[in-house]
Amino acid sequence: MTSSAAAQAEPAPISACTISRDVQNFDLLIEDMETALGEAWGDLPLNEAAAFLTQLESGMLEFVALALDSEDEDDLATINEIIAVAKERKIKIVIIAEDVTPGVLHQLLRQGADDFVPYPLPEGALDEVIDRFRTAEDLAEKAPAGAGQSPARPTGDRDGVILPVHGLAGGVGATNFAVNLAWELVASSKNKEDPTRVCLLDFDFQFGSTSTYLDLARKDSVYELLADTSSMDTDSFMQALQVYNDRLHVLTAPADVLPLDIVGPEDIERMIEVARLNFDFVVIDMPTTLVAWSESVMHAAHVYFALMELDMRSAQNALRLIRAMKSEDLPLEKVRFALNRAPKFTDMSGKARVKRMAESLDIDIELLLPDGLKQVDQACDHGTPIAEIAGKNPLRKEIQKLAISLHDITHSEQTGI
Ligand SMILES: Nc1ncnc2c1ncn2[C@@H]1O[C@H](COP(=O)(O)OP(=O)(O)O)[C@@H](O)[C@H]1O
Ligand SMILES: [Mg+2]
Repeated sequence: MTSSAAAQAEPAPISACTISRDVQNFDLLIEDMETALGEAWGDLPLNEAAAFLTQLESGMLEFVALALDSEDEDDLATINEIIAVAKERKIKIVIIAEDVTPGVLHQLLRQGADDFVPYPLPEGALDEVIDRFRTAEDLAEKAPAGAGQSPARPTGDRDGVILPVHGLAGGVGATNFAVNLAWELVASSKNKEDPTRVCLLDFDFQFGSTSTYLDLARKDSVYELLADTSSMDTDSFMQALQVYNDRLHVLTAPADVLPLDIVGPEDIERMIEVARLNFDFVVIDMPTTLVAWSESVMHAAHVYFALMELDMRSAQNALRLIRAMKSEDLPLEKVRFALNRAPKFTDMSGKARVKRMAESLDIDIELLLPDGLKQVDQACDHGTPIAEIAGKNPLRKEIQKLAISLHDITHSEQTGI
């Protein structure tokens, strides 16, 4: 054990610290730290820890184990300060708690502590926490299999096309469409020098599944971003994004189910604005439910995709959406109705039903997306876009065509050709 990280410069780089009034009260923690880290850790007294951490650069320490007992509850200010400084330095915090009341523990976790373990430590508990920290770090920063990660780079010089996707009923295939459209926009980018920058925003804050469909972690920073959008800037927005296959930037839904009204119209407008300035295309996966900020997204949209299937549920919900938009004077002209799992070209009776549905709703159904069968589910389960595992899939081809036409339209609008 390294006696005091603060006092002496050690040859072995220290990657973690215990912080306590007296670490000798936690001898099982000492043993576990030694087993996990060998010499590469130190101990800080509680009353000096904040000052010491303040002098550190971000990233020098991996985590601190803050070992507390009931006596420490009298000095919560010191403990909160340590947590605040560690958070700021991006150091993970695990509380080692002996007889700490649940109320205090809860408060410390809310302050920003990442995890806690009761003392005496259960067998292997500290190792598990360290593993969790490292996995989270890996997912956030390095490339896990299948999902390339590199830091998101802001540009601030773009004027992105905003493309929300709204499933008119649960399970109609909106998220799958949004994910694959975003990927096809990346993949069909022609300019190698300045590749098209695409961002996928998962605004289904409750059950958003873009992270599942692209095998991305749900990062804490997404929650932090949504919980306090007033302090959001380009950097914090870009840091909350993950990068799929080095190309597609994704704001996944947060790890926990959040109320859809955790953000308001102004927050959503700011997020879209930052995305617009930094990307060429911004695809937004919307929740099926209409919320206070749906209107903001509709106003920001260039094209608003409304996905439906050939059934009564979709037809009735389409009618409701149209009525709601008309009564609120919302831009109905932006809506492009897309029929998913559309009947095949040769299916005459199916085609007649599509025609009847469009007529009865008084809409054009401009986009017919074929059934991609099992391959689509397989792609979703593998966490990859369809293109990556089934390039010739009919659904993939249709979405690819759409992506190419969106590139062409945008290009001709920009250049006037
Ligand atoms: N055109 C399609 N062909 C085959 N399977 C599809 C198609 N569209 C969606 N799916 C599958 O349907 C399921 C639900 O899709 P999802 O996009 O999550 O729906 P939503 O977001 O509208 O609730 C997924 O398992 C997806 O693989
Ligand atoms: Mg969805």
